[in-house]
Amino acid sequence: AQLASCQSVWDGPKEALHADISACTRCPLHRNATQAVPGAGPMDADLMIVGEQPGDIEDLSGKPFAGPAGQLFDKVAADVGLDRQQVYITNAVKHFKFIARGRHRIHQRPNASEISHCRWWLDAEIKQVKPKLILAMGGTAAEALTGSRSDVLSRRGLIENSATGQRVLITWHPSYLLRLGDPQARANAMGQFTKDLHMSIDLIH
Ligand code: URA
Repeated sequence: AQLASCQSVWDGPKEALHADISACTRCPLHRNATQAVPGAGPMDADLMIVGEQPGDIEDLSGKPFAGPAGQLFDKVAADVGLDRQQVYITNAVKHFKFIARGRHRIHQRPNASEISHCRWWLDAEIKQVKPKLILAMGGTAAEALTGSRSDVLSRRGLIENSATGQRVLITWHPSYLLRLGDPQARANAMGQFTKDLHMSIDLIH
Protein backbone atom coordinates (compact mmCIF):
# COMPACT_ATOMS: atom_id res chain seq x y z
CA ALA A 1 0.00 0.00 0.00
CA GLN A 2 2.83 2.43 -0.72
CA LEU A 3 2.22 5.92 -1.97
CA ALA A 4 1.61 6.80 -5.54
CA SER A 5 1.85 10.54 -6.04
CA CYS A 6 -1.20 10.61 -8.31
CA GLN A 7 -3.39 8.90 -5.69
CA SER A 8 -5.72 11.30 -3.91
CA VAL A 9 -6.77 8.97 -1.09
CA TRP A 10 -4.93 6.27 0.80
CA ASP A 11 -6.70 3.01 0.06
CA GLY A 12 -4.50 0.34 1.59
CA PRO A 13 -5.64 -2.35 4.02
CA LYS A 14 -6.34 -1.22 7.59
CA GLU A 15 -3.38 -3.20 8.97
CA ALA A 16 -0.95 -1.27 6.71
CA LEU A 17 -2.04 2.23 7.70
CA HIS A 18 0.33 2.81 10.62
CA ALA A 19 3.29 1.26 8.81
CA ASP A 20 2.62 3.45 5.77
CA ILE A 21 2.43 6.55 8.00
CA SER A 22 5.76 5.54 9.52
CA ALA A 23 7.33 5.37 6.07
CA CYS A 24 6.02 8.76 4.97
CA THR A 25 8.26 11.20 3.11
CA ARG A 26 5.48 13.41 1.70
CA CYS A 27 6.91 16.57 3.25
CA PRO A 28 10.37 17.58 4.53
CA LEU A 29 9.48 17.15 8.23
CA HIS A 30 10.50 13.47 8.16
CA ARG A 31 14.14 14.48 7.61
CA ASN A 32 14.81 15.80 11.11
CA ALA A 33 12.29 13.85 13.16
CA THR A 34 13.23 10.57 14.87
CA GLN A 35 10.13 8.80 13.59
CA ALA A 36 6.55 9.41 12.52
CA VAL A 37 3.93 9.10 15.25
CA PRO A 38 0.72 7.49 13.96
CA GLY A 39 -2.51 7.55 15.95
CA ALA A 40 -3.16 5.08 18.76
CA GLY A 41 -6.30 3.34 19.93
CA PRO A 42 -9.07 1.13 18.60
CA MET A 43 -9.60 1.40 14.82
CA ASP A 44 -13.36 1.36 15.48
CA ALA A 45 -13.47 4.00 18.23
CA ASP A 46 -16.57 6.21 18.45
CA LEU A 47 -14.45 9.19 19.45
CA MET A 48 -11.36 10.43 17.61
CA ILE A 49 -9.21 13.06 19.24
CA VAL A 50 -6.82 15.13 17.13
CA GLY A 51 -3.92 17.25 18.41
CA GLU A 52 -1.31 19.24 16.53
CA GLN A 53 1.87 17.21 16.10
CA PRO A 54 4.14 15.00 18.21
CA GLY A 55 6.31 16.85 20.71
CA ASP A 56 9.81 15.97 21.89
CA ILE A 57 8.73 12.97 24.01
CA GLU A 58 6.29 11.66 21.41
CA ASP A 59 9.00 11.90 18.73
CA LEU A 60 11.29 9.73 20.86
CA SER A 61 8.65 7.26 22.09
CA GLY A 62 6.58 6.99 18.89
CA LYS A 63 3.35 7.38 20.92
CA PRO A 64 0.93 10.32 20.66
CA PHE A 65 0.31 12.45 23.76
CA ALA A 66 2.93 10.71 25.89
CA GLY A 67 4.49 13.93 27.32
CA PRO A 68 3.20 16.78 29.53
CA ALA A 69 0.25 17.68 27.25
CA GLY A 70 -0.79 14.02 27.28
CA GLN A 71 -0.54 13.88 31.06
CA LEU A 72 -2.84 16.88 31.39
CA PHE A 73 -5.23 15.30 28.90
CA ASP A 74 -5.18 12.02 30.87
CA LYS A 75 -5.95 13.83 34.12
CA VAL A 76 -8.98 15.66 32.72
CA ALA A 77 -10.13 12.53 30.86
CA ALA A 78 -9.99 10.56 34.14
CA ASP A 79 -11.96 13.35 35.91
CA VAL A 80 -14.81 13.08 33.38
CA GLY A 81 -14.69 9.26 33.12
CA LEU A 82 -13.29 9.11 29.60
CA ASP A 83 -11.14 6.01 29.07
CA ARG A 84 -8.21 6.81 26.77
CA GLN A 85 -8.06 3.14 25.74
CA GLN A 86 -11.50 3.57 24.11
CA VAL A 87 -10.46 6.59 22.08
CA TYR A 88 -8.43 6.87 18.86
CA ILE A 89 -5.97 9.67 19.51
CA THR A 90 -3.82 11.17 16.78
CA ASN A 91 -2.30 14.37 15.45
CA ALA A 92 -2.91 16.59 12.42
CA VAL A 93 0.79 16.30 11.53
CA LYS A 94 2.67 13.06 12.16
CA HIS A 95 6.29 14.28 12.42
CA PHE A 96 7.78 16.58 15.09
CA LYS A 97 8.70 20.02 13.71
CA PHE A 98 11.36 21.79 15.75
CA ILE A 99 14.44 23.94 15.71
CA ALA A 100 17.51 22.84 17.66
CA ARG A 101 18.79 25.25 20.33
CA GLY A 102 21.78 23.70 21.99
CA ARG A 103 20.58 20.46 23.51
CA HIS A 104 16.94 21.52 23.29
CA ARG A 105 14.50 20.98 20.47
CA ILE A 106 12.01 23.84 20.32
CA HIS A 107 8.56 23.08 18.93
CA GLN A 108 7.55 24.95 15.74
CA ARG A 109 3.97 25.22 14.58
CA PRO A 110 3.39 23.34 11.30
CA ASN A 111 2.61 25.54 8.30
CA ALA A 112 -0.35 25.27 5.92
CA SER A 113 1.58 23.14 3.42
CA GLU A 114 2.70 20.63 6.07
CA ILE A 115 -0.83 20.46 7.46
CA SER A 116 -2.29 19.91 4.03
CA HIS A 117 0.28 17.21 3.07
CA CYS A 118 -0.48 15.35 6.29
CA ARG A 119 -4.26 15.68 5.79
CA TRP A 120 -3.86 12.66 3.56
CA TRP A 121 -3.05 10.52 6.61
CA LEU A 122 -5.64 12.16 8.83
CA ASP A 123 -8.29 11.51 6.18
CA ALA A 124 -7.10 7.88 5.95
CA GLU A 125 -7.39 7.48 9.73
CA ILE A 126 -10.90 8.99 9.69
CA LYS A 127 -11.90 6.73 6.81
CA GLN A 128 -10.76 3.65 8.73
CA VAL A 129 -12.02 4.58 12.20
CA LYS A 130 -15.29 6.26 11.11
CA PRO A 131 -15.73 8.03 14.46
CA LYS A 132 -19.08 9.43 15.54
CA LEU A 133 -17.32 12.57 16.69
CA ILE A 134 -13.91 14.17 16.34
CA LEU A 135 -12.57 16.37 19.12
CA ALA A 136 -10.15 18.90 17.60
CA MET A 137 -7.71 20.17 20.21
CA GLY A 138 -6.25 23.50 19.12
CA GLY A 139 -5.97 25.56 15.97
CA THR A 140 -3.87 23.18 13.87
CA ALA A 141 -6.32 20.31 14.35
CA ALA A 142 -9.27 22.63 13.68
CA GLU A 143 -7.59 23.88 10.49
CA ALA A 144 -6.70 20.38 9.28
CA LEU A 145 -10.22 19.09 9.88
CA THR A 146 -12.39 22.02 8.79
CA GLY A 147 -10.13 23.97 6.43
CA SER A 148 -10.79 27.14 8.43
CA ARG A 149 -7.89 28.98 10.03
CA SER A 150 -10.07 31.30 12.08
CA ASP A 151 -9.20 31.68 15.74
CA VAL A 152 -10.11 28.89 18.18
CA LEU A 153 -11.09 31.61 20.66
CA SER A 154 -14.37 32.19 18.78
CA ARG A 155 -14.97 28.50 17.90
CA ARG A 156 -14.23 26.62 21.12
CA GLY A 157 -17.17 24.58 22.41
CA LEU A 158 -18.89 24.66 18.99
CA ILE A 159 -19.49 21.84 16.55
CA GLU A 160 -18.39 22.22 12.93
CA ASN A 161 -18.23 19.78 10.02
CA SER A 162 -15.09 18.20 8.64
CA ALA A 163 -14.46 17.99 4.90
CA THR A 164 -15.01 14.22 5.39
CA GLY A 165 -18.50 14.81 6.82
CA GLN A 166 -17.82 14.18 10.52
CA ARG A 167 -18.93 16.36 13.40
CA VAL A 168 -15.96 18.20 14.86
CA LEU A 169 -16.07 19.69 18.36
CA ILE A 170 -13.40 22.31 18.84
CA THR A 171 -11.56 22.77 22.12
CA TRP A 172 -8.30 24.09 23.56
CA HIS A 173 -5.04 22.28 23.06
CA PRO A 174 -3.71 20.96 26.43
CA SER A 175 -0.33 22.65 25.73
CA TYR A 176 -2.17 25.98 25.57
CA LEU A 177 -3.63 25.26 29.02
CA LEU A 178 -0.15 24.45 30.34
CA ARG A 179 1.19 27.74 28.98
CA LEU A 180 -1.50 29.95 30.54
CA GLY A 181 0.33 31.80 33.31
CA ASP A 182 -2.57 33.66 34.90
CA PRO A 183 -4.21 31.28 37.45
CA GLN A 184 -7.73 32.63 36.86
CA ALA A 185 -7.41 32.39 33.06
CA ARG A 186 -6.03 28.87 33.42
CA ALA A 187 -8.84 27.78 35.74
CA ASN A 188 -11.45 29.18 33.32
CA ALA A 189 -9.89 27.47 30.31
CA MET A 190 -9.50 24.20 32.24
CA GLY A 191 -13.21 24.38 33.10
CA GLN A 192 -14.06 24.84 29.42
CA PHE A 193 -11.78 21.96 28.38
CA THR A 194 -13.40 19.70 30.99
CA LYS A 195 -16.86 20.73 29.76
CA ASP A 196 -15.86 19.94 26.16
CA LEU A 197 -14.62 16.46 27.11
CA HIS A 198 -17.92 15.89 28.91
CA MET A 199 -19.80 17.03 25.83
CA SER A 200 -17.76 14.63 23.66
CA ILE A 201 -18.89 11.70 25.83
CA ASP A 202 -22.53 12.84 25.62
CA LEU A 203 -22.35 13.22 21.84
CA ILE A 204 -21.13 9.69 21.16
CA HIS A 205 -23.87 8.09 23.27
N1 URA B 1 0.99 17.85 21.44
C1 URA B 1 0.26 17.36 20.42
O1 URA B 1 -0.45 18.08 19.74
N2 URA B 1 0.32 16.08 20.19
C2 URA B 1 1.06 15.24 20.88
O2 URA B 1 1.07 14.05 20.58
C3 URA B 1 1.81 15.76 21.94
C4 URA B 1 1.77 17.08 22.20
